[in-house]
Amino acid sequence: MVRMSDDPTRVQEFFSARAADWDARFPDDGPAYAAAVSALGLRPGGRVLDAGCGTGRALPALRAAVGPAGSVLGADLTPAMLAATVRAGRDGDGQLLLADVSRLPLRAGVLDAVFGAGLISHLPHPEENLRELARVVRPDGILALFHPIGRAALAARHGRQLTPDDLRSEPRLRPLLAGSGWRLTSYVDEDTRFLALAVRER
Ligand SMILES: C[S@@+](CC[C@H](N)C(=O)[O-])C[C@H]1O[C@@H](n2cnc3c(N)ncnc32)[C@H](O)[C@@H]1O
Repeated sequence: MVRMSDDPTRVQEFFSARAADWDARFPDDGPAYAAAVSALGLRPGGRVLDAGCGTGRALPALRAAVGPAGSVLGADLTPAMLAATVRAGRDGDGQLLLADVSRLPLRAGVLDAVFGAGLISHLPHPEENLRELARVVRPDGILALFHPIGRAALAARHGRQLTPDDLRSEPRLRPLLAGSGWRLTSYVDEDTRFLALAVRER
């Protein structure tokens, strides 16, 4: 079976078809994104990447957290999603990169944190790809894996069952992160949000 996540072109096709009305489909998520960003504990002047930033819904909160002296990057491999970010005026909140997060054009350890919303299930090689995110984050830096609804609610929205092998279940996610240079420190999976926080191991 070929999964969409095995092929970046299929990921691009999938999200290109949804880019124009992505924000309109989820108009009330802003406060949930702001709350998740606050869990990163960013400080003024901090450096953060929104990995798979899509239409940039997290960028305003990330910019507010690091202030004008900070650095906010938004990376996505789907040009149409980045174009929607620009149309929404969110390119003023961060520098946009047309890039695959499995091969980031960044030096090791340059970031304080990575925020990834709705990303992990699209990664073709999660352990290897999470290791690439760890590479660009300094020791003790933070990773947030977020979704504005929990796993069960998302499965119901997609008309599928939640299976025990789900990548984001705690028993699967904890060792996955540990094998990629991250230590899971907090895990919340409730109807109104999924948020896993991890610290970059030294
Ligand atoms: C479910 S959307 C979430 C978008 C945004 N983070 C949000 O919360 O609205 C997933 C996004 O990840 C992007 N994506 C998937 N795999 C990627 C990869 N390997 N590198 C960069 N972006 C990727 C897709 O193009 C899409 O924009």
